[in-house]
Amino acid sequence: MIVNEFEFTLKDGRKALIRSPREEDIQGMLNYLYQSAGETDFLLRYPEECGRYTAEGEKELFERINHSDTEAMLVCIVEGKIAGNCQISWNNRIKTRHRAGVAIALLKDYWNQGIGTRLFEELIRIAEDHENILQMELEFIEGNTRARALYEKMGFRITGVGVNAVRLKDGTLLNEYHMIREIRRPIATHKP
Ligand SMILES: CC(C)(COP(=O)(O)OP(=O)(O)OC[C@H]1O[C@@H](n2cnc3c(N)ncnc32)[C@H](O)[C@@H]1OP(=O)(O)O)[C@@H](O)C(=O)NCCC(=O)NCCS
Repeated sequence: MIVNEFEFTLKDGRKALIRSPREEDIQGMLNYLYQSAGETDFLLRYPEECGRYTAEGEKELFERINHSDTEAMLVCIVEGKIAGNCQISWNNRIKTRHRAGVAIALLKDYWNQGIGTRLFEELIRIAEDHENILQMELEFIEGNTRARALYEKMGFRITGVGVNAVRLKDGTLLNEYHMIREIRRPIATHKP
């Protein structure tokens, strides 16, 4: 789906734009995917694994998500550059359509500027606008205190742990924590 674009001001005074991805964002998105993979161990990709992302693949991805009824991607643009993005997706299967998965990442230059908070407000609004969705779900890797702080601030709580879910190149094993945030609704609205 396409989201309505809007601007806001970062904590350091710069202007940011949030909107759905467009074809003109493809190169910026590829740069962001590669750069962000090298800036933190808390994403699931290493830079050398980013070769699977191609301009054609991003074009197809943007088109699919923008035309989907069950997915949205939001990009955040600061000074003409992709600072990061987030996604929400769910499916239409009766037993699982109440669950929406979300994910987010920003380039390091833009951490702690309030972008994550603003993007999550938008993801929550999208979830609330879709009456089948009863909970948002995400994972974070052990040690990612910034992400955990953001998610708890936005109403998520830890519900489980994937033991040793991640193994870094140096052999370090890290747990992955599962979180959910319930969307409160009158009980009748989610019945098939
Ligand atoms: C995690 C991430 C998405 C957060 O986005 P962000 O824009 O930096 O977050 P915000 O600035 O909106 O909010 C971060 C909050 O965490 C707090 N915080 C920052 N560092 C912290 C730390 N080390 N420990 C605890 N809290 C911390 C900030 O004070 C802020 O809270 P506040 O708004 O109440 O002051 C972003 O930092 C990022 O992309 N990191 C790398 C990729 C990643 O980890 N993605 C998530 C994978 S699960």
